[in-house]
Amino acid sequence: MDQFAPIHIPPRDALFAPLARLMTRADWETRFADDIEAILRLKRERNAVILAHNYQTPEIFHCVSDIRGDSLALAREAQNTDASVIVMAGVHFMAETAKLMNPHKTVLIPDSRAGCSLAESITAENVRALKRTYPGVPVITYVNSSAAVKAETDVCCTSGNAKRVVETVAREWNTDRVIMIPDEFLAKNIQKQTGIEMLTWPGHCEVHEKFTPLEVRQYRRMHPGVVVLAHPECPPEVVAEADYSGSTADMQNLVAREQPKKVLLVTECSMSDNLATQNPHTEFVRPCNLCPHMKRITLPAIRHALETMTTPVEIPADLFPAARRAVERMLAI
Ligand code: 13P
Ligand code: SF4
Repeated sequence: MDQFAPIHIPPRDALFAPLARLMTRADWETRFADDIEAILRLKRERNAVILAHNYQTPEIFHCVSDIRGDSLALAREAQNTDASVIVMAGVHFMAETAKLMNPHKTVLIPDSRAGCSLAESITAENVRALKRTYPGVPVITYVNSSAAVKAETDVCCTSGNAKRVVETVAREWNTDRVIMIPDEFLAKNIQKQTGIEMLTWPGHCEVHEKFTPLEVRQYRRMHPGVVVLAHPECPPEVVAEADYSGSTADMQNLVAREQPKKVLLVTECSMSDNLATQNPHTEFVRPCNLCPHMKRITLPAIRHALETMTTPVEIPADLFPAARRAVERMLAI
C-alpha cells in the first residue's frame, strides 16, 4: 500500500445501512461507529483482511469483515488472499486452519480464549488410541479440532462437505466404515445419510446439543408453516424434526433461494440476525443459543488485535505438514 495515499473510509450512512433493521442509528453510533472506523483504517495500514464466520455479530459481520462464510468457505478463502495479515473473526481452530493454508502470513486471533467445545473434546493421543484399536480404518476429522488432532488425520471435513468427504473416502479406501471425530452427532447424522458405519467420539457442540425435538415441535405449533433448518451438529432427533439440515452456508443459500415467509434456524442466534439483514421478506423466529467462544470476538478486540498485532497463531513445525495435508485433501475433494 502507498503509505501516503489517503485512506478512504465509507460514509457512516453506508456503513450503518445493512444494520438498519436490527438497531437504531443512535445505538450504532454510540456503541460501534468509532471502533468500526478505526478498524477500517487499521486494516489498510496493516494490509490486513478480516475473515468472519457466520456466527459473528452483525456489526462485525457487515461493517468490518472482508470475507464471510461457513468454516469451509473461510478455509478456502484463506488460501486466496494476498493480504499480509489475516484477522480471524471466528474461533481458534478457524485461525489455525487459516495459518495452515498461509504459513508465511501473520494470522491473528483477537481473543485466544475463543475455543470450541468440540475441538477441546479430543486430544492427539485419543486419536492415536482409536487408530490402534481400529487399524487401517481411515480417520476423518471435523475441522473443529486442534492442529495436533488434524495431524493424526487422513482427511478433514466441515459440515458443508462431510457427506461428500465420507463417501469419497469410503470409495477410495474401499471401506464401509470410517473413524469420524470428534462430533458424535455430526457422525450419526452423516451415517444416516450415507449408510456408512461411523466409529465416533463423544464430542458435542455446547450450542447445538441444547436443542431438543420438543422445542422444535413447540416452535412449529406457535408458528404454523415455519420452515425449519437445523445444523448437523444438532442431535439426530432434532435433525429428524427439521425440514432441512446443512452447514451455515447451506442455510444461507436455502433462505436466499427459496425466500420462505418464516424460518427457524436451529443454530447459533447471530446467524438469524445476519440473514435477516439480507432477506427482508423472510421473518426469522429466533431461538437464542449463543456460542460463548464466538462472542469473545468483539469490535474492541479486533481493533486491539490490529493495533498491537496480537495474538499471532503459531503451529509447531513438527505438526505442520501432516495437519496441512489433512486440510488440503479436504479442499481437493
Ligand atoms: P459451519 O461450518 O456450518 O459454519 O459450522 C461451524 C461451526 O462452528 C458450527 O457450530
Ligand atoms: Fe464450537 Fe459449537 Fe461454538 Fe461452533 S458453535 S465454535 S461448534 S462451540
